[in-house]
Amino acid sequence: MAAIKTIGILTSGGDAPGMNAAIRSVTRSAIFSGFKVKGIYRGYRGLIDDDIVDFKTQNVSNIIQQGGTILKTARCKEFTTEEGRQRAFEVIKKHGIDALVVIGGDGSLTGARQFASEFDFPIIGLPGTIDNDLYGTDHTIGYDTALNTIMWCVDRIRDTATSHERLFFIEVMGRNAGFLALNGAIASGAEAAIIPEISTEVDQLAELIQNGFRKSKNSSIVLVAESPVTGGAMGLAERVRKEYPDYDVRVTILGHLQRGGSPTAQDRILASRMGAAAVDALLEGQRNVMIGDDDEQIVYVPFSKAIKNEKPIDRELLNTLRRLSI
Ligand code: F6P
Repeated sequence: MAAIKTIGILTSGGDAPGMNAAIRSVTRSAIFSGFKVKGIYRGYRGLIDDDIVDFKTQNVSNIIQQGGTILKTARCKEFTTEEGRQRAFEVIKKHGIDALVVIGGDGSLTGARQFASEFDFPIIGLPGTIDNDLYGTDHTIGYDTALNTIMWCVDRIRDTATSHERLFFIEVMGRNAGFLALNGAIASGAEAAIIPEISTEVDQLAELIQNGFRKSKNSSIVLVAESPVTGGAMGLAERVRKEYPDYDVRVTILGHLQRGGSPTAQDRILASRMGAAAVDALLEGQRNVMIGDDDEQIVYVPFSKAIKNEKPIDRELLNTLRRLSI
């Protein structure tokens, strides 16, 4: 493998709080180790459109506390085509980029994996998504901040739910994963979490309403993971309204609120550690791995494992939620 001199960084897919901390960490760690750094705008779009600038340490000053991504992000259809990736490779060569660090979620790492194997090109991935749905890492960058945002919002909804004695269905993001809904429910003291991983949960809703809401509670909060499997908060609320017309049901969809905001300390530290680890990985000759954290230790997870395997929900957490919501 030819020596790596220049590293390109990009953020891709849905933005996540802490992406800036990751960009800063990769840039500074790379410069510290003698590499040149190039910032690529709008994810893979910037590779195809040749939207690339030199990054110095000052390009990443004063960004650790900012949500979003200074490099912008995109979901690039063209990169899913052979011609698109070929064009991206030509632009990479033109700029003398020898390796890439890709910060993003499942779709972004799928693109990275394909590109890396087609062009025999070294890529290191950083898990950047609020969904926490990448296998091989306990946490993804942005997840903790989104979880805290959910908790903050639900606390406020609980005030009005209690005053009006209402049943609230609050929909949270997560694509096809229930991590935000389940841990958001525990953190905010919600009565239940409806998540795609546990299909029977939908039926348990009736039980919850009859046993809990009717007898001991005058208000209830149920967190629902967005997903066709759960039916979303609207779908569930419709069902409950039909079956229990006496209940005063309301729906709140938290939406993109969950993607913004200044990252928590945990996300900043995770992003900083992972960014530095991405540069270490390149120095060690690693390629085509995602940086993960496993019990606080940095690990290298082959792209194939991170993308293809479904990250399991911890059933113990479901049990905890059930026991605490009586
Ligand atoms: O993957 C991150 C995520 O926020 C998901 O939770 C959500 O389903 C999706 O992105 C929303 O994407 P968009 O910003 O394109 O609407």
